[in-house]
Amino acid sequence: MRRLHPDAADLELAALYAGLTLPDRGPSRPWWVAMCMVSSVDGAASTDGVSGGLGGEADRLALSRLRSAGDVVLVGAATVRQEGYGPLVGSAERRADRRARGLAEVPRLAIVTASGELDPTSAPFTHPQQRPLVLTTRPAADRVRDRLGDVADVVAAGEEQVEPTTALAHLARLGLSRIVCEGGPRLNSQLLGAGLVDEVFLTVGPLTVAGGAPRIAQGGTERPGPLRLESVFEHDGDLLLRYREPGTPPVAR
Ligand SMILES: NC(=O)c1ccc[n+]([C@@H]2O[C@H](COP(=O)([O-])OP(=O)(O)OC[C@H]3O[C@@H](n4cnc5c(N)ncnc54)[C@H](OP(=O)(O)O)[C@@H]3O)[C@@H](O)[C@H]2O)c1
Repeated sequence: MRRLHPDAADLELAALYAGLTLPDRGPSRPWWVAMCMVSSVDGAASTDGVSGGLGGEADRLALSRLRSAGDVVLVGAATVRQEGYGPLVGSAERRADRRARGLAEVPRLAIVTASGELDPTSAPFTHPQQRPLVLTTRPAADRVRDRLGDVADVVAAGEEQVEPTTALAHLARLGLSRIVCEGGPRLNSQLLGAGLVDEVFLTVGPLTVAGGAPRIAQGGTERPGPLRLESVFEHDGDLLLRYREPGTPPVAR
């Protein structure tokens, strides 16, 4: 692996985001949102309906490092359904690493849904070490609780839609303030549109996709948000880009 920015160096792949920590925010905005996505060179966020074909080994490691660093993984329901999410329990090594940094052994999984169309017998809901949070709307909450209440904590966080700030505030109240958002594009767009994303980890895989795949953020209204480039790594053609929102502190080196 090569680091290209902020300074050039040849490194072992294992050095990628090693020891990654996410900052705690102050009392005025008590969370940190790190978005983690992969895209093709022509901007596709999926191929054949999933993201797995877009990035290689380094992208998978980046995702694992992010999951090691956060209190909670936030994800939209379509991503859970389409990507076939498994439990976030991780290897014994990752659990020990999290314990050593004062984090819970396993990050919580928080799924955003209005429909509640999630299978209570599917992998995210059936692992003994993982009880997901399901963030839904107030009108849907009773129905979603009937469906998922035995296997998840169902929380109302909005009226017509889950309201992003209400959802993040709820997570922070539970002590889940370091938030890793794994998409998908419609959830990302709402968080970016509301100016709630502090950091973006983006892998650009060495391929084009064409067709009608979504971008990594799609839907809602445009809100251009400048970013500051923090680091660039390259491995096997994957470009691993890390950006922060300009009002945040630079990455400690
Ligand atoms: N490239 C990448 O890194 C990456 C990452 C993640 C996903 N993806 C791809 O993205 C595609 C899915 O895209 P997507 O945009 O549909 O995914 P998504 O954002 O995960 O899911 C959208 C769904 O999430 C729920 N949702 C989102 N915001 C909500 C809100 N404010 N209130 C209530 N519910 C809300 C709704 O679920 P209900 O329908 O249940 O109401 C909505 O239909 C898949 O092909 C996946 O492979 C790519």
